[in-house]
Amino acid sequence: MDASLFANTDSGTLVPTIEGMQAFVPNQLPPGIELGNIINEFGEASAALGGLSEIGSTIANPYMVIRPLQRNEALRSSAMEGTFSTADDLALVEALDETSANDSAREVHNYIRAIDFAIDQIKTLPISHRVIRGMHAVLLEQATRVRGSNKRPGEYKIHQNWIGALQIQRSRFVPPPPVEAQDCMDDLEAFMNADTAPLPPLIATGLSHYQFETIHPFGDGNGRVGRMLITLQLLSQRLLNSPLLYVSPFIDANKDEYIDAMFAVSSEGDWERWLRFFLTAIKESCVETTKTIGRLNALQERYRGLLHEKSKSVSALSIADHLFERPVISITEASKICGTSYQSAKKNVEQLVHLEILHQVQGFENPKLFWAKEVIDISDGR
Ligand SMILES: Nc1ncnc2c1ncn2[C@@H]1O[C@H](COP(=O)(O)OP(=O)(O)OP(=O)(O)O)[C@@H](O)[C@H]1O
Ligand SMILES: [Mg+2]
Repeated sequence: MDASLFANTDSGTLVPTIEGMQAFVPNQLPPGIELGNIINEFGEASAALGGLSEIGSTIANPYMVIRPLQRNEALRSSAMEGTFSTADDLALVEALDETSANDSAREVHNYIRAIDFAIDQIKTLPISHRVIRGMHAVLLEQATRVRGSNKRPGEYKIHQNWIGALQIQRSRFVPPPPVEAQDCMDDLEAFMNADTAPLPPLIATGLSHYQFETIHPFGDGNGRVGRMLITLQLLSQRLLNSPLLYVSPFIDANKDEYIDAMFAVSSEGDWERWLRFFLTAIKESCVETTKTIGRLNALQERYRGLLHEKSKSVSALSIADHLFERPVISITEASKICGTSYQSAKKNVEQLVHLEILHQVQGFENPKLFWAKEVIDISDGR
């Protein structure tokens, strides 16, 4: 990190760290900021969030859209950090014994499990160290890859870390050393759960994300846990009433500005640039999410129409509806979903295959697996 770039900033201080380098310690939130110049972006993002929440409240089974959105989030957020999987593999991991999955697919699946864990926790708890570390533990559970040899699932860092290079000397940014990072996390935990008025909660969420990434409290997984926290903070502040909004697809598509804008807060105190990016990410993600929900609804309508015309079986209809949450199923699972015998579930599945709603997954015989490719492809952003 080039310490001279931080000479005039008012957003934090430099402290000495390992190898004669300096580390950046961010000041406590909130900064003194003027929102006048970003009032339009704020208004648009707030309106988009409100609109999305309203759409969410009209969906009979919200998980029919939440799961596909989460799969897309998990794939894109993980890809940004070099963990690549496909929507196909992710859907298969959900249906199979996880231990048989490859490491990348399992880590991407863990991303969804970590969000689930945290959503459940914040029903009764504030967004605390316990919740944040718990998410990290789930995300990195059974992470065996070499890249993460310093992974300590569920524990904050005990060594200095840095961003953007293999050697600290060449790094772009050096976050706080472990002890300072712990203090910063204490402050952030308090801020995330405080009444920040007159600062709007949406702005507080944007500030918190910058702060979390700048603290970089874990040895690994900071990017991913930080992006999960955006949705969680929106939920806990009741800006969302169901976990519908995920920003990683937008952030991944605008990765350079995402990172440069956070860097500019640290180096120049340029909060406006970061908040403008953040608010645009919220607005654009709402727009994309609304489109995805439209696609899912249209697909469900088409399946229902087909089944109404060609089958009239209530069981086949329940299976088809269930595919949006879990797009890969076996016949045994189908029989559980509709509470019928194996034999009649088999008939229903055959019908769904005949109507090309389901396709048999090649390479799986015992048990046979079937997938709804159209549902899976929506999570791929295709
Ligand atoms: N200059 C910066 N200031 C603050 N945060 C940054 C900066 N540059 C990158 N980041 C954040 O750090 C993330 C990447 O850093 P790093 O590769 O260390 O993450 P990580 O801890 O390995 O997390 P994961 O395993 O989820 O990637 C980015 O996605 C971004 O969120
Ligand atoms: Mg990483």
